[in-house]
Amino acid sequence: MGKRPLDLLKKRHTTGQPVNTRYMRDRWGNFLTQTKDGMMMIEGVRVDDIVHKYGTPLYVMVESEIRNRCRRFKKVFGNQISLQYAVKCASNLEILRIVREEGFDLDCSSVGELILGLLADFKPKQLTFTNLFKTEQDLFFAAKMGIQAITADSLEDIEHIANTARKLRKHIDTMIRINPMLQIGTWSTRKNKYGIPIGYAERAVDLAVQSPYVDFQGFHFMGGYVYHPKVLKAAARTFVKLIRRCQDRGVRVRRLDLGGGFPAAIGDQHAFPIEEMRDFPKYFQSLLDRHGIDHPVQLIFEPGKSIVLNAGIGLMKAISRKRLGAKNRVVIADGSSYNFIPDALVQTDVSYDVLPASKLNFPRIHSVTIAGNTCDCWDLIVQNIDMPKLRAGDLLAVMDVGGYAQVMANNFNTIRRAAMIMIAPDGTTRLIRRRDRYSEMFAPELDVLKMAGPNELEKYNNLYRVNIDKIWKGGGMTKFEKKNGGRMQSAFETIERQLHTNGKNKNRNGK
Ligand SMILES: Cc1ncc(COP(=O)(O)O)c(C=O)c1O
Repeated sequence: MGKRPLDLLKKRHTTGQPVNTRYMRDRWGNFLTQTKDGMMMIEGVRVDDIVHKYGTPLYVMVESEIRNRCRRFKKVFGNQISLQYAVKCASNLEILRIVREEGFDLDCSSVGELILGLLADFKPKQLTFTNLFKTEQDLFFAAKMGIQAITADSLEDIEHIANTARKLRKHIDTMIRINPMLQIGTWSTRKNKYGIPIGYAERAVDLAVQSPYVDFQGFHFMGGYVYHPKVLKAAARTFVKLIRRCQDRGVRVRRLDLGGGFPAAIGDQHAFPIEEMRDFPKYFQSLLDRHGIDHPVQLIFEPGKSIVLNAGIGLMKAISRKRLGAKNRVVIADGSSYNFIPDALVQTDVSYDVLPASKLNFPRIHSVTIAGNTCDCWDLIVQNIDMPKLRAGDLLAVMDVGGYAQVMANNFNTIRRAAMIMIAPDGTTRLIRRRDRYSEMFAPELDVLKMAGPNELEKYNNLYRVNIDKIWKGGGMTKFEKKNGGRMQSAFETIERQLHTNGKNKNRNGK
């Protein structure tokens, strides 16, 4: 384990001054301050300096906040609950390295995430693999690697694991994901697509234990957002009864994985502190005792967003502003809800905090919509947010974007996804993911072209060179454009024309 910075839990940043209360929330108190003249500082570093060095849009991850949140989980649960970070939430290698140093295992949802875990120096036995379906190749890989456990999501998935294990002649430690069909007020798991409905649980266990190569370990459950500790207590009651039924059939349940879903707030959302779960291991043990379970059952949690969400800040620049009516003001940013903050599109009931990072001393004077820079009318990062008067070049900080942001961002409009940096407690910054390159964005299609026959290869290569030269070197209007009345010609038309000409040439040359 690497050297841990000391006393992070107690730290509140002292460089700079407290952020103006009209913009501040308590949850950013450990790392956010401002200069006297209203420039946001992260870990004591001015955001204009960060932007000068790395550009925008940019994700900034705060190392101390990630470590703090890992340590809070560890402090609350000690060794009573095994903790696995959910890679899908923010799968950056540097983040994985930090959670490893903090003593977490990994919950992986694909072979890609298993590979990332190995690249981040996790041992195979620290990796679990939970998703709805795995290909045979996925299972071969995971089994041969010797990971901690694979979770089956359906009866078919159990058979699938059993068949692969038999082919490999290798035992696979297997968890079975169960939907306990809970209904607590309006919160329900009844329509969730995950897991085997509890009515089929015993059939699933029989299927697993009958297979000579499936080593049944226990149950998995993940019910989505945990809005109150009572949700997990209700799940625990249902599962302990199931564990008792297994015991009565002579089957030992060694582990119960209750997933992630612990809250982390965006905007005004309420997030209960993990400290409210302190009595959970004791409660669980009392249930085991009450139901006469005569062996220990290892509890597992898989937190994702509660570790990283509030540790991430998205820095953007205002690039222009518009008025669409007396009271309808729009500020266009150089980030978007597709390429930068995709959750803004998915969670439509959530409103992100966007702070005027270079104008924190200015009062909120009017309501604006912060629109993203793609050609889609849904691309609004936040609507009706009160802001100071913003101008092109002003910096904006989207708060709480450390999870389900970069990993869900896409290249819509063929825009490159943002870079990500990590900022250390002493204010040093390092790039932990560079901005996309056009070459790698185009590669999947160019690779296909390269695989075409030799004649086509020549044709497309010519095309590629002609277009890139014309578009990038910006040599003004082409002859074709002049002939067509000087109108702007799209790259697509150039390609069409070239294809046409090449086709003709081909025929003429008798190829
Ligand atoms: C199986 C599993 N575990 C853990 C998580 C992490 O959830 P969260 O980020 O809400 O903590 C997820 C999220 O989808 C999941 O599917």
